[in-house]
Amino acid sequence: MAETRIPRHIAIIMDGNGRWAKKRLLPRTAGHKVGLDTFVDTVDSCSDMGIEYLTVYAFSAENWNRDPLEVSALMELMSRGIVKYEPEMVRKNIRLKLLGDLDRFEKKYRDALTSVEERLSNNSGMTLCICLSYGGRQELVNAFNRLASQGKTNITEADIEQNLYSAGVPDPDLVIRTSGEYRISNFLLWQSAYSEYYFTDVYWPDFDKAELLKAIESYSKRERRFGR
Ligand code: IPE
Ligand code: IPE
Ligand code: MG
Repeated sequence: MAETRIPRHIAIIMDGNGRWAKKRLLPRTAGHKVGLDTFVDTVDSCSDMGIEYLTVYAFSAENWNRDPLEVSALMELMSRGIVKYEPEMVRKNIRLKLLGDLDRFEKKYRDALTSVEERLSNNSGMTLCICLSYGGRQELVNAFNRLASQGKTNITEADIEQNLYSAGVPDPDLVIRTSGEYRISNFLLWQSAYSEYYFTDVYWPDFDKAELLKAIESYSKRERRFGR
C-alpha cells in the first residue's frame, strides 16, 4: 500500500453534538460535554501524528443566536475545558491561537482563554487554532477595515492574509465536517479556497481516532491540482 500522505493542516467543523444527545434522550449540553472529550482526544492524536496545524470550529458568530442557556453552558464548558487542558498542552508543546471576535465574550471567559493562549503562544509543537465567535465573512470584513484604517490602496492577497485572524497560519489542506451536513457554515471562507473536503455522517462525539484516520486516508488518495 502506498504511504499515507499526512496533511500539514487539518481543519474540523465539529458538528452533531445536539443530535448525538437527542438520540440518547439527553440534553444538548450532554452532547457538548462528550464533544469536548472528543476534541481533547483529537488534539492528542493530531499532535502525536506530527500534524503541524489543527484548526477547530468550536463556536460560530451565528451560534450567538442560540438559546441563551445553551450559549452560556457552552461558554462555561469551553473555557473550563481549555483551562483544564492547559498542563497537557504544555507537556505536548502545543502553541495555541484563538481565532474570532473574542470581544463578544464575557470578560471572565475572555480573560481565562486569552491568558492560556498567551502562555502557550511561544511553544514550538503543533499549532492549535480554536475558532471562537468566528465567522469567515466577519473575519474578511475585519481585515478590510484594518487595511482601510491604515489607508491601504491596491490591496494584495498578502495584505488580506496578514490581516485575517489566521495570519501566519498556512491554509488548511483538509477540512473535515462531521454529522452528515454538507455545508461550510461560514468557516475559513478565504483559507479553504483549495482545501480538500471530507464529510462523514458520524456525529462529533463519536468521531474517534479510527474515524480521523479514515479522513486522512481519504485525503491521502486525492490528487490536488490547484487549477493546473
Ligand atoms: C456542534 O454541535 C457544536 C456547536 C455548534 C457549538 P451542534 O450543537 O451544532 O449539534 P447539532 O448540529 O445541533 O446536532
Ligand atoms: C457550525 O455548526 C459551527 C460549529 C461547528 C461550531 P452549526 O451547527 O452551527 O452550523 P449549521 O447551523 O448547521 O449550518
Ligand atoms: Mg450543528
